Amino acid sequence: MKVSKRDYISSVWRDGIFDDRVVFCTGGAGTIGSAQVCALVHLGANACIVGRNVEKTQQMAVEIGTARPGSRVLGIGGVDVRNLQSLEKAVERCVGELGGIDYVIAGAAGNFLAPISGLSSNAFQTVVNIDLIGSFNTFKATADHLIKSASKNPNPSSTTGGRIVFMSTTFHYAGMPFQAHVSSAKAGVDALSASLALEYGPRGINSNVISPGGIGNTEGLERLSSKATRDTGEAGSGVPLGRYGVVREISDATVYLFAETGNYVNGHVLVVDGGAWRMPELV
Ligand code: HXC
Repeated sequence: MKVSKRDYISSVWRDGIFDDRVVFCTGGAGTIGSAQVCALVHLGANACIVGRNVEKTQQMAVEIGTARPGSRVLGIGGVDVRNLQSLEKAVERCVGELGGIDYVIAGAAGNFLAPISGLSSNAFQTVVNIDLIGSFNTFKATADHLIKSASKNPNPSSTTGGRIVFMSTTFHYAGMPFQAHVSSAKAGVDALSASLALEYGPRGINSNVISPGGIGNTEGLERLSSKATRDTGEAGSGVPLGRYGVVREISDATVYLFAETGNYVNGHVLVVDGGAWRMPELV
């Protein structure tokens, strides 16, 4: 088959690439989740964000809606990812009001700093339940809609729906003091995504992980920053690129994975941390 040079040129970064698509995001009222959804809405998608806090989730949905006039962004509060039924109800409402689900971001997470000696069994389980079981539940609740979306577009070279991104961390690559609970849960999230990529790839689903490093102005970094600052002397200076990340660098990674650029990316862990995971003692 003759290939023209034009075939190598991707022009995916343009308005409207996610027209008529719907993204469902857990933890969507958080700084990173809302930025990811904002970027997709700006490029044409409608969205449903879910979270535990009713007011915060609804308010954030309104803010995200300003990313594109005419967009439809649903904010459903009172949803705890540890409870499959509450997720299923939210999915039902999302599909009823927005018509389906093409992309999923499993972003809900729980975190606190604690030494292993200070972790009760319940404390450890709580984080595993939110981060790992919550990610599993998110896929469980949305799987049928992702499969339906993937089957809508038979042309594999154009952007398809049926994609899920799990939000992880880099802590478990080398271990992280005071984060045994989170590291353990996120190692499971990476493993879940890899297995899902193999089992559901044949059904057209792409499953990938984004592992952010320290990202400025986020709750996660806020919770851990005293340690990071102590270790590096200056915020982010120990990262190979010399700084912490900015939120937009995570939303850009998300657009990459959901757009045509990510068509052949499946079972991948995309680390977005300035290279810090290569020097784990500096994270
Ligand atoms: C030790 C703690 C603790 C602490 C809670 N626990 N905080 N143990 N040190 N600092 C224990 C409690 O004592 C209890 O155990 C158990 O954990 C459950 O606590 P609850 O408060 O009942 O749980 P819950 O209300 O469900 O709240 C979950 C939570 C909370 C994870 C504890 O912090 C939360 O809701 N977080 C959501 C927001 C969040 O964490 N965002 C940050 C995500 S950022 P006992 O035995 O007493 O019953 C992120 C990425 C970071 O994850 C990346 C940075 C680079």
